[in-house]
Amino acid sequence: MSANAGSAGWGVGASNTTEARLLRRHPGVGSLMTAAKRRIPGFAFDYLEGGVGDELCISRNRRALDEIEIVPRYGDDVSQIQTAVRLFGQDYDLPLGVAPMGLSGLVWPDADLFIAKAAEEANIPFILSMVSNVDVETVCSVAPNTTWQQLYAVPQSDYRVVFDMVDRAERAGVRALVLTMDTPMRQKRLRDTRNGLTVPFRATMRTVYQVATSPRWALQVLRSGQPRFANFVPYVEGEATPNKVANYVNEYMVGPTTWDLIERVRARWKKPLVLKGHQHVEDAVRAIELGVDGLIVSNHGGRQFDAAPAAIDVLQDLRDRLGHGVPIMIDGSICSGLDVLKSRICGADFVFAGRPFLAATAALGKHGPAHMAAMYRSELRGAMGQSGLSDISNVESATFRMHRAQPFGNRRA
Ligand SMILES: Cc1cc2nc3c(=O)[nH]c(=O)nc-3n(C[C@H](O)[C@H](O)[C@H](O)COP(=O)(O)O)c2cc1C
Repeated sequence: MSANAGSAGWGVGASNTTEARLLRRHPGVGSLMTAAKRRIPGFAFDYLEGGVGDELCISRNRRALDEIEIVPRYGDDVSQIQTAVRLFGQDYDLPLGVAPMGLSGLVWPDADLFIAKAAEEANIPFILSMVSNVDVETVCSVAPNTTWQQLYAVPQSDYRVVFDMVDRAERAGVRALVLTMDTPMRQKRLRDTRNGLTVPFRATMRTVYQVATSPRWALQVLRSGQPRFANFVPYVEGEATPNKVANYVNEYMVGPTTWDLIERVRARWKKPLVLKGHQHVEDAVRAIELGVDGLIVSNHGGRQFDAAPAAIDVLQDLRDRLGHGVPIMIDGSICSGLDVLKSRICGADFVFAGRPFLAATAALGKHGPAHMAAMYRSELRGAMGQSGLSDISNVESATFRMHRAQPFGNRRA
């Protein structure tokens, strides 16, 4: 059979597969965000897109990636491109996973399930948020090979909830545990504050109007019910109504993930343990001393601290101090395969993306996250080909610079 079977001619319009049609409708994250904005209520879109304070940190994440330049290399055969990587003893098809996103059911009902299934099919990790709307047992049953679990501290329960979640993760078959560090306090997100965001959501003139003008979203909510904090249902006394579970989360889940808690989780969880959110070198050193297996350097997608640096900008300092002993991963505005390649070239072992996967789900329902993963894959391959790189595990030869003020060079050892 010819390589072009199923195509009618040359060009992006030639193929008529579902993937090709989706690509023509949504060739990048930008159009998925626009479609998501049209399809879901304003308060849900603001929750997805917004950040803390003046949202400077979100722009900083984007700018840091935009400023990176890679000098292209030509002449070598790049027809056999290898994007697979090994992480914590497991092979993944891309150096990319889905970042944890709590309350994703507000953006699109059952998003956790759709994203988990797509990640399993694409063979990339999906980090389920502790405050997900589908519980860890259900998610692991549809995605047994690629589910990781993120946890926050729940100090007001004397950590009983955290330790029970660790045990549940073990029983459910979670591959790696991620403790989030960068939420010692709740922060003011201006958009959510203005919208009076509440779960379960409250009927006001404004929310009713927004829901009424988002019929597909409203229909999905009618089918699946209002988003609820599914993992917390067992911890509520009596009947776990959505209101009671939300009250529980509101009261109990406030406070930092401390070094002491990390030590205690480390003693209990034998599989890979990852910390997410540290950006300071000394914090990273301390984490490694406590036996943590990996770091996701992150500023929570600009949702917690408006002065935080972009993860990619602190990467080299961390690498200089920590060497190559533990995987250093990053997230924040990784919107394309080119961003994945830039991150790898700048020294990240692995990257995660949040909003693009959730926006794709809001725009296209269950087809969204698979489309997003397919786009990352093809863009990454394209960017590698232009950079003269045929193996994503071997990018040290790339010539690049992170800022215009710098000379071009290769990665520091
Ligand atoms: C809607 C939303 C909810 C989030 N919820 C969580 C969460 O529950 N736990 C967590 O560690 N990070 C959470 N984050 C942060 C992401 O895991 C990730 O750090 C960030 O989104 C990466 O930036 P990006 O969205 O630009 O890719 C959330 C982010 C978004 C957009």
